[in-house]
Amino acid sequence: MFKKLALTAAMALALTTAGANAAEVESHVEDFAFSFEGPFGSYDQHQLQRGLQVYTEVCSACHGLRYVPLRDLSSESGPGLPEDQVRAYAAQNFEVFDAELDDFRPATPADHFPANTGVGAPDLSLMAKSRAGFHGPYGTGINQLLKGIGGPEYIASLLNGYEEAPSCAPEDFDGHYNTVFAAGGYPDSCKDEDGHHMYPGSWIAMGQPLYGDDVEYADGHESDVHHEAMDVSAFLMWAAEPKMMARKQAGFVGVLFLTLLSVLLYLTNKRIWAPIKGKKKHA
Ligand code: HEC
Repeated sequence: MFKKLALTAAMALALTTAGANAAEVESHVEDFAFSFEGPFGSYDQHQLQRGLQVYTEVCSACHGLRYVPLRDLSSESGPGLPEDQVRAYAAQNFEVFDAELDDFRPATPADHFPANTGVGAPDLSLMAKSRAGFHGPYGTGINQLLKGIGGPEYIASLLNGYEEAPSCAPEDFDGHYNTVFAAGGYPDSCKDEDGHHMYPGSWIAMGQPLYGDDVEYADGHESDVHHEAMDVSAFLMWAAEPKMMARKQAGFVGVLFLTLLSVLLYLTNKRIWAPIKGKKKHA
């Protein structure tokens, strides 16, 4: 039985890898190690604060976060900023349109982060979840439970994925070459005779946003591209899934409770059947 299973699994694996090889060059999503992965993982408050800083000073120029309430920045399981800091942060960085005043006013913690549609950049509120299954740390199911859902890995890889365009591309080809972005334009001159892409990724409309030293972290942490990308991706994961820690905790309590219940039921069952099973043995 086990042999058969193992054989089937091996065959399925061989088939899928053969399929992948036949397809075009795969873009590689690096499996970053985030603190919130795994059944007991949790957000790193300092990392979320650094990520907020990167978002505010770099990404918010083009991207909105319109589903994220500013007041959530004081959440204990999130960035955990004191309430007066959130108030100051909102007022200093964002203006929102107030229908009652019929004018713009500084944002307050009761507002959401504003939308930003100026250059056609997508809203980032749910990006970390919408790209979850897109590319992931390979596989689904148990792998996702142990290694995370893959969305923040994708974003961090994307931000690290800019490279000089291969020489086969026309100089004036629209966009910026990114080895991770799969949904953009791709010049015909970089395809082989079967029409397969010869290079991973495609051309993206977003210019490389991070070069390292783009922010001076308030906590003095190193700010190379790798760290900035990880921090902002962790922040975007929190923005998309602010209740992850509470959910994990509830799940853990649930599993613990069910385990205890199973043991009690097993013992009860044994006890109920003991007189009958016992008689049989001696018969
Ligand atoms: C100068 C404007 C600009 C800045 C600054 C910028 N972006 Fe973008 N971003 C864009 C545009 C435009 C797109 C749409 C690209 C496309 O579809 O080709 C985009 C797309 C994206 C995507 C979606 C990729 C996908 O799979 O569809 C992510 C994620 C992203 N940006 C993250 C960031 C982060 C994080 C930062 C800050 C470190 C940032 N961006 C800074 C303009 C910007």
